[in-house]
Amino acid sequence: MPRPAKHVFVCTQNRPAGHPRGSCTNSGCGQVMNEFMSQIQARNLFDKIALTNTGCLGPCGFGSSVLVYPDGVMYGKVKPTDVATIIDQHLLGGEPVVSLQVPAEVW
Ligand code: FES
Repeated sequence: MPRPAKHVFVCTQNRPAGHPRGSCTNSGCGQVMNEFMSQIQARNLFDKIALTNTGCLGPCGFGSSVLVYPDGVMYGKVKPTDVATIIDQHLLGGEPVVSLQVPAEVW
C-alpha cells in the first residue's frame, strides 16, 4: 500500500440527545463521510488520500469536524457540498480552504 499524501479524519462521534457538547453526528457527519468516500472512489484517489472515521476531535461546536494530516488543518461546520472543494483545493492542490477552517483560538 503506498503511503497517502493526505490523511483525512472525519469525526463521527455520537452523544445522547441533550448532551452539552452535542456531537458531529447531530451535525450530519455521516453525510460528510459518505461524500468523501464517494468522491475518493469516483476519482480513484485511494493512493493519494486516506480516509478514517474517528471519535471526537475536540471542536464539537464546529461539527462536522474534519482534520487533515500531515498538515494539521482542522475544518469545521463541513457540509457534504464542501467536500469537493476540500479535495480539489487542499488535498490535491495543496492549499487549505481558509474559509472552512475553525478559528485559530479553537485549533
Ligand atoms: S463530536 Fe465531533 S469534534 Fe467533538
